[in-house]
Amino acid sequence: MRALTVTPKVPNSAKLVHLPDPKPGADDVLVRVLQVGVCGTDKEILAGLYGEAPPGEGSLILGHESFGQVQQVGRNVASLRVGDYVVATVRRPDDCLNCQRGETDMCLKGNYTERGIKGQHGYMANYYCEKPEYLIKVPEKLRHVGVLAEPLSIVEKAAFHIFQIQKRLQWEPRRGLVLGAGPIGILAAAVLVSRGLETFAAATTPKDRPRVQVLKRMGIAYLNVHEDPIADMPARLGNIDVIVEATGSSSVAFEAMSILGVNGVLCLTGVSAGNKEINIPTDCLNLGIVLGNKTIFGTVNANKRDWQRAIQDMALFETLWPGALSDMITRRVPLEDFAEAVERKPYDIKAVLEI
Ligand code: BGC
Repeated sequence: MRALTVTPKVPNSAKLVHLPDPKPGADDVLVRVLQVGVCGTDKEILAGLYGEAPPGEGSLILGHESFGQVQQVGRNVASLRVGDYVVATVRRPDDCLNCQRGETDMCLKGNYTERGIKGQHGYMANYYCEKPEYLIKVPEKLRHVGVLAEPLSIVEKAAFHIFQIQKRLQWEPRRGLVLGAGPIGILAAAVLVSRGLETFAAATTPKDRPRVQVLKRMGIAYLNVHEDPIADMPARLGNIDVIVEATGSSSVAFEAMSILGVNGVLCLTGVSAGNKEINIPTDCLNLGIVLGNKTIFGTVNANKRDWQRAIQDMALFETLWPGALSDMITRRVPLEDFAEAVERKPYDIKAVLEI
């Protein structure tokens, strides 16, 4: 089979190679990969900033946003059939308490692996083998957008935790703000608006770009931060009950802390693998957080529950805003042109490799 590999920590090392097809055992499922989304984490791995090859190997098959079709099932597999559409979760457990209880996304020790990211091969290949418990079925009617399940699962986990955390008080959130209008930002705003919040998205993207059109179709107001600076947003919008930071910029995360409303919750989703440093007004920030009973938390990865919720919400979004999810997939690029797929284009939202 063909596969796209990288040498982790070596910038621009991606290459297309031929590897033997995986051989499924009695407990395994062989999946034919149809599409793999390209995300910021892939770009960081390609830049040599992030990623880890499987133990004892020099290279890593890239890709963690998969969509595929079951090609073969081992004789002990009863939950899936040949032809089923599936997405595969990303993280695999270590021996910590949380991983052992099915919460790999909340791993305590950090020795988890992640397919296509950390210590396990990913999905940018013709085939992969997996245990059925890590595969989520996608209804055929969602096959055109199934590749968005992974980023949506990240957002579902964030939303689940936001509402769980806020059970700490009598909370009737009215207003949500998402910082960033990439796929995670758009999907986060979609989840908030679908939960009944008046939702705003703010980013640097000019207003004529497809991502702004998609947001509008979903009933999300867009603010360009060059015209509406982040610092002025509370005065402009009122008390902000929920903020989801999805720019990936650590300095924006700190700016978000200063505009969060009373009793609000700020959820940070950006994986910032660099080493940026800034000066921050700590007294002022601390005072605001304490006197306003504010919560700030980070979230990574997703639990199986969040993946299932992602599939449900995809169906809901298709009903609420027909075609909006498909419009998020702005480019479909053949595997051999992967270098083009990872290039940032101004009119892109999500680029997808067709395998
Ligand atoms: C992936 C997550 C992963 C995280 C950290 C993200 O891009 O979507 O599944 O846990 O990177 O490696």
